[in-house]
Amino acid sequence: MALSSYVEAVIDKKDWYITNLSNVAACLWQQMEDVSWVGFYLITDKNDIEKELILGPFQGKVACTHIAIGKGVCGVSAAEDKTLIVPDVSKFAGYIACDSEARSEIVVPLRDASGKVIGVLDIDSNTEGRFTEPNDESRDLEECARLISEIIPAKL
Ligand code: SME
Repeated sequence: MALSSYVEAVIDKKDWYITNLSNVAACLWQQMEDVSWVGFYLITDKNDIEKELILGPFQGKVACTHIAIGKGVCGVSAAEDKTLIVPDVSKFAGYIACDSEARSEIVVPLRDASGKVIGVLDIDSNTEGRFTEPNDESRDLEECARLISEIIPAKL
């Protein structure tokens, strides 16, 4: 079954978005093979100049709490508004090593209804090459990101 089907099943639109993000992180964590971290970073609208990604609900080890837009895989994904697949994190300039054991990573942007990036879904693995190129799984994760984006409020 597609990951997005599980995600759709756990999202309850009547619930608080943090509740839903938490269960989506847990759902992907349970369903995906060989992943070491699954979670969300959200862009706060504290002000327009110092926008940054702030750690949201996740599964895995304690992680970096603040990531500047344009920094690390998450920050570049948010800045460039595109899914980033990094087969070998040691080759990604500016990679932010929250966990020294992480070897590969995929980051998918979350967008509001107008298409503006509001955060990212970040998934790490301790296996090099776990994420290599766009494939059915990465497209499935983009669908998961679309589903969860729908329940994130405009103002955080
Ligand atoms: N490695 C990420 C930082 C977040 S952690 O992996 C949880 C990055 O370079 O953006």
